[in-house]
Formats: sequence, C-alpha cells, structure tokens
Amino acid sequence: MITQRETWGTRAGFILAAAGSAIGLGNIWRFPGEAYEFGGGAFLLPYLFALLTAGIPLLLLEYTLGRKHQVGPPSVYRQISKPAEGIGWWQNAIAFCLSTFYAAVIAWALSYTYFAFSRGWGDQPVDFFVGDFLGAGGNLDFFEFRWPIFAVLVGVWVLVLTIMLGGIRRGVELANRICIPLLMVLFGIIVVRAVTLEGATEGLNAFFTPEWSRIGEAEIWLGAYAQIFFSLSIGMGTMIAYSSYLKKKSELSTTAVTVAFANSSFELLAGIGVFSILGFMSVQAAQPIDGLVGTGGGVAFITFPTILNEMPGGAFIGVLFFASLAVAGISSLISIVIVPMTSVEDRFGWSRKKTVAYLGVPMAIVSLLIYPTANGSSMVDAVDFAVSGYGLVLGGLATIILAFATGKLKSLAAEANRTSVLKLGNVWYACLGLTAVILTIVLFLNVKGQIEDLSDPEVANELVYINWGVGGAMIVFGLVMTVILYKRPLPVREEAEPEPALDTE
Ligand code: PFF
Repeated sequence: MITQRETWGTRAGFILAAAGSAIGLGNIWRFPGEAYEFGGGAFLLPYLFALLTAGIPLLLLEYTLGRKHQVGPPSVYRQISKPAEGIGWWQNAIAFCLSTFYAAVIAWALSYTYFAFSRGWGDQPVDFFVGDFLGAGGNLDFFEFRWPIFAVLVGVWVLVLTIMLGGIRRGVELANRICIPLLMVLFGIIVVRAVTLEGATEGLNAFFTPEWSRIGEAEIWLGAYAQIFFSLSIGMGTMIAYSSYLKKKSELSTTAVTVAFANSSFELLAGIGVFSILGFMSVQAAQPIDGLVGTGGGVAFITFPTILNEMPGGAFIGVLFFASLAVAGISSLISIVIVPMTSVEDRFGWSRKKTVAYLGVPMAIVSLLIYPTANGSSMVDAVDFAVSGYGLVLGGLATIILAFATGKLKSLAAEANRTSVLKLGNVWYACLGLTAVILTIVLFLNVKGQIEDLSDPEVANELVYINWGVGGAMIVFGLVMTVILYKRPLPVREEAEPEPALDTE
C-alpha cells in the first residue's frame, strides 16, 4: 500500500515548473549552435513546423497521460498495455544518462561563473577549456579526475537531491519560483546589452539568413525535431511525471500552449543574444562569423570567453551569462531526476527518502565517476548524441505508436477535454499521426547514414561505439525490466479523497 501523493500547490506553480524544465541548457547552449549549423533561418521553418505539429500535441499527450493515471511513466504505460511498461523503463534509462551529463555541464557553467569575475580563462580560452580546465588528453583516460570540477559537481548533486527531498511543493515548485524569475532578469540584461553592441546586426543576419538549399536534408529535419523534443522536455516521460502531480481538475490545453511558447520565445531570445555577441566578435576580429561558431560546448565555453576578453564590461556580462546557464540548467535537471524518482516510488511503493538514498545517490556517483575526468567533454558529446539526437525522439514516437495501436487516443482526448479550454479532436490525431510518419522516415534515413559511417574507419572511433553502446543498453534495460516485472502487479494506493464536482462537466 502506498500513501496519497502530493499535488502542485497552484496552477502557476505547475506552469513555472514545466517551463523551468523546458528552458534549460538546450535553449542557451544547444539551440543557437544547432540553428546555425543547420542553415540559420532555414532551420527555423522545420523547427516551427515541429513545434506546432509534434511539440505541442505531444506535450498534451504526456500531460493527459500523467494527469489521468497519477503515477510515473512505467506504471502509466503498464496500465495502457502490460508489455508496454518497458517503454517507461527505457525512458528512465534515458533520463538516468541525461541527468549524469547534464549535471556535469551545469558544473562547468558554475565554474565559469567564478572564472568570469576575473576572466580567469586568460588569453587563450581554447587551451584553457580543453587543457587547464578539462585536462582532455584526446585518449579515453578514465579515473583521471579533475578535482575542481568534481567538487562543484558534488555541490550540484547535493542541491538537486535536497530539492528532491523537499517534495513537489516545498522542493520542485519552490526551486522553480526562484529560478525562473532570476533567469529572466539575468538573461534580459544580457540580451539588452548584446543587441546594442557594435556588429550585432551582422550576427543577427547570419542567424536569420536562410540557406534554403538545405531544407530538404533529412538531417536538418531530425535536427529540428530533436531540438523541439529536447527543448520541450518531451519523449522521456518527464512531462508524464510532472503532470502526475496535477489535480484531476487541472486545465491542460492552455497550459501546454503557454509552456511551449514561453520556451520557444526564450530559445529565440537566446539565439538573438548569442548571435549579436558573435556579430560583435566578427567585427572586432574582422573575421566572418562562420569561423567563430562551433556547436555545443564550443560556443559557450570557448567562443564566449574569447569575446568577453574583448568586450567592454565583459566580466559582468560573463558572470550573468554563465550564471544564467547554471540557473536554467538546475531547474531542468530537477525535472530529469524526478523521472526515475517518481517511477520507482510509484512502481515499488518506496518513500522519497528511500528513493533519494538508493537511486539519487548512485546517480550522483555515476555522474561523478564519468564526467569530471579527462574524458568528460568527449563523453558529454557521445552520450548527448545518443540521448538528444535519438533517445527522446524515439521515446516520443513509441508513445504515439502505443496510443494509436491500443486505440486509446479517443478516450485520452475525452479525458483532456473534460477540463480543457481548447478541445482535442481530429487535428490532434492528425498531428500525432503525421509526427509518427515523419519521425519514422527521418529516423530511418539518419540511422542508415550512421550505419554507413560505422564502416568508414575515418569516422568510426571509440566514441561512436560508446554512443551506439549507450543507445543499445538503454533499450535492453527497458526490455529486461518488462520481463522481470511482468507478473508483479502495481501497488495499491490509499483511497483518495473524492474530488469536488467540476463546473466544466
Ligand atoms: N529541456 C531541457 C533543455 O532544454 O535543456 C532539457 C531536458 C529536460 C530534456 C528534461 C528532456 C527532459 F526530459
């Protein structure tokens, strides 16, 4: 028997937490680089298409599943179809991997916030980041710890696990009430400063100018879907977990639209800020923007410090930038860690304290053993690819296929419509169907390209194998858990208080 679970304190509390999950490293660290690499303005078209036809509909699907069943993802999927429980455990494996490296990037950002005060990265930010800071040697050297990063990462995990111990209202909700306004202020100042820099227009032109010739490439479409899934935190059960703490009478549709637009607005704002600053650099160094942009960590931890060295007031902007990266990251990390926590509690009847001790602490230990080492950044890249490039998109696809295959979409729409302002119906079914078709095609084409790459000795290296290994291991984990738990019924929950009648019914 498990006891009654908590609910969010207010509607605003849930919206802030869902937006806090969505707005994260993906907006500041991932989006500008991806957009640039995938054709600037031309990327925005598939991006918007994916937002409207896949992002918002899936957000609604996950909210509905969570609110309806009031349990974590594996138990939700099991209630839909017993063998489907594995999808939930597979998503847990993805969340586990994501949390371990996500925490590490937050630790980098916190370290850089400190360095920014005195521009402690010196005159050669590349050498500093790769050599002095990460100590990356090029080979895979496990157990060669970078103790300063290790110490900061311990701090990140202590903070996040303490928030977990606080539960939903006094932990997650409170943390987001602090993080989101703080982030808006910090980032607002950066953007205002950035767009007033000399050369900002150059940067914005580079960001928005479309390279239409690339619009047909499957890679770009997968990139756009992957960005939307990662950015909106869908495909991994995170939104199922969060909405399982909603009251049964909570509104869903306008909430989903609010969260999705808040997230994309912030993402565009981050793109504008980052590219204005790159434009400044390009004018100062009389270099085209092309050579300045890298993807992923390159922009944030190498290009940015280089620019901040040149910028009047660079130390101040640097502190704001890295602090906002860390704050945005923390509110998202909370939502990633809650997936396995909620899943285990609801499936095995564990208390929060027990889950933090037996699951949260081991997660932290895995993160601490792998990432603050000389391999840290290579491992971040390898695991990020398996998780963000494929994991979430495949996870989302599995949820849609399951909902169609079990014929549950109609009843889910009815469940959402019970309290929603915007009614779900044919457009919603069509969007989900279209998403399934597009994802199947782009995934097929991309995996084919990857397999071809594997036979090319120039491309295939240890990291590619790690990436495939991690991807495969997550799926195997899902399958094993399905078999082990197949005969074990879900724990019974104490009877809930009857809910007051709804006006909308
Ligand atoms: N949405 C977060 C970001 O943009 O950084 C990352 C994330 C959080 C992805 C939660 C997936 C997830 F379930």
